[in-house]
Amino acid sequence: MTTTPLHNDRFLRALARQPVDRTPVWMMRQAGRYLPEYRERRAHAGSFMDLCRNHDLACEVTLQPLERFPLDAAILFSDILTIPDAMGLGLYFETGEGPKFRKTVRTPQDVAALAAPDAERDLDYVMRAVSTIRRELNGRVPLIGFSGSPWTLATYMVEGGSSKDFRHLKTMLYDTPDAMHQLLDILAQAVTDYLNAQIRAGAQAVQIFDTWGGSLSTPAYLEFSLRYMEQIVSGLIREHDGRRVPVILFTKNGGQWLEHIACAGADAVGLDWTTELSDARARIGHKVALQGNLDPNVLFARPSAIRAEVARVLESYGAGPGHVFNLGHGISQFTHPNNVSAFMDALHELSPQYHQNQHQNQNDGDAR
Ligand code: CP3
Repeated sequence: MTTTPLHNDRFLRALARQPVDRTPVWMMRQAGRYLPEYRERRAHAGSFMDLCRNHDLACEVTLQPLERFPLDAAILFSDILTIPDAMGLGLYFETGEGPKFRKTVRTPQDVAALAAPDAERDLDYVMRAVSTIRRELNGRVPLIGFSGSPWTLATYMVEGGSSKDFRHLKTMLYDTPDAMHQLLDILAQAVTDYLNAQIRAGAQAVQIFDTWGGSLSTPAYLEFSLRYMEQIVSGLIREHDGRRVPVILFTKNGGQWLEHIACAGADAVGLDWTTELSDARARIGHKVALQGNLDPNVLFARPSAIRAEVARVLESYGAGPGHVFNLGHGISQFTHPNNVSAFMDALHELSPQYHQNQHQNQNDGDAR
């Protein structure tokens, strides 16, 4: 791949805790159903997975939010469940019920029958999407690749879809912990290979989504979720095309384990809105960058309330580098795009003051 210069590197600079002129921002699910142009494309493609499997369409919907909003990163349009799908579990989406698998993994025999997919071969459609998006971005902003954490992928594979109580999964964890470890180990190998393939295809940062780590007790979180994310981080390509490829770990509801997460070897920790940035910064702020954390439901409120909440989040992190602004956990399909604009406007107006002196230093540094 020929290297195009990156025109906007705020996101990568913030992850490296280097000075920036304003706080960079991206949103989880920034491409999706809240955008009419996405709904139009999805109807045309047939299904969500058809969109993911067609690299031109995946590229088009990845870029849609960037046409509307001054975002500082693009995120690959795909899903975390592509790995179990490539393992032969048969992913499908039932309207209104979320993801489902035709086959589940619940016994030691089920686990023994599994193997990690070869990402370049079995998930080549994802790699084609990554390289197409990189080409079309043409250096505008960096591209984020992603995967689910082994624990979060296991929740869907064992339950066969979304779950409220994780009954089958927890039964397996407590009854047959060895089989659970074996499953998580296969998934950790699969995720490492998958993320490295995305990096080779052009992903400039990667995020691991541990959406369901927060459902565990502290010892179980450390043993069954964090340990495998650590294993992945230690196996990732950390420099590509002459640039560091930062890794972000995001455990939803993981605020109580910040000190542990910050020691897992990643460049940044993603926070949801239930963890206060000022507290997080006081606890781990110098170790890693922090990504977070506006409650996405704030975007249902009026513009002045959105602005007040953006101001509060910025003030909570305070001055200085190392902050990536993010919607705590995904934008709702019912959000009005105008309210996203109100959020972006507020951030653009309010965030530069938190970087003034630092940015001056950066310019001094560049001149030296
Ligand atoms: O953030 C982005 O813009 C990138 C794309 C992305 C999607 N899913 C697209 C998507 C990312 C990063 C994900 C991650 C993902 N997928 C997670 C981890 C983050 C999280 O949300 O907790 C999880 C748990 C999944 C599994 C998944 N995929 C669920 C539970 C659903 C159904 C959601 C629903 O509201 O029905 C999906 C489908 C999905 N993935 C959609 C999108 C845009 C909706 C697809 C559609 O109906 O058009």
